Amino acid sequence: MKKVVVAASSLPAGRNMSSQIEYLTRVSQYGADIYHLDVMDGKFVKSKTLDYTYFEQLREKSTILFDAHLMVNDVEKVIEKYTKSDANIITIHYESFSNIDSLISVLKRIKNSKKMAGLAIDMPTDISVIDSLLKYIDMVLILCVKAGKGGQAFDKDALKKIKYVRTLSPDILIEVDGGINETTGAQCVRAGADILVSGSYIYNNDTYEAIQKLKGKNG
Ligand code: DX5
Ligand code: ZN
Repeated sequence: MKKVVVAASSLPAGRNMSSQIEYLTRVSQYGADIYHLDVMDGKFVKSKTLDYTYFEQLREKSTILFDAHLMVNDVEKVIEKYTKSDANIITIHYESFSNIDSLISVLKRIKNSKKMAGLAIDMPTDISVIDSLLKYIDMVLILCVKAGKGGQAFDKDALKKIKYVRTLSPDILIEVDGGINETTGAQCVRAGADILVSGSYIYNNDTYEAIQKLKGKNG
């Protein structure tokens, strides 16, 4: 089996800085490869979470990659805060834009800042929107639930989306997010995913074991 990259979602640790630091330290120690920073503005989705103002202090506590998943409406207004932040990967949502040229220009700004550019496709959106955008990005984030909250059930249609993207490109990074556990994670990897984001499965179980199981190991 190929090497599976595990990204622990920041969402279950809430907005309190000390819980974030504690959780980041724990998942880093127990083998997570990435800390997936879920940023919600209370407009694109109902909830509001941490934002770029947390990143610097978190960076001091761990050297693992930071992957910012921006679930926000006004991407153009805030993107500079993220391109100048400690995030290594910046992922924006296709659904945040009404204009494709604005979307492409933000992706170019991310690439120019020497960070990796990700594009997230929410569950209700047809995956074929990715066709003309692949050349601007390093990673596709396939949502396997409707973006907005943790603990939702995995939608099997996400597996078709993974296969679709993998067929389009053998090299593009595919990250999956929402409802990922040992079983759904393995299905996604078989379909072609590279990076598994997990919130509640890691948070609510033994951290080390959950991360090992997502990697396809038995602890
Ligand atoms: C949801 C977020 C996820 C969330 C996943 O919109 O993007 O990263 O934390 O949580 P689980 O793994 O519980 O579905
Ligand atoms: Zn996420």
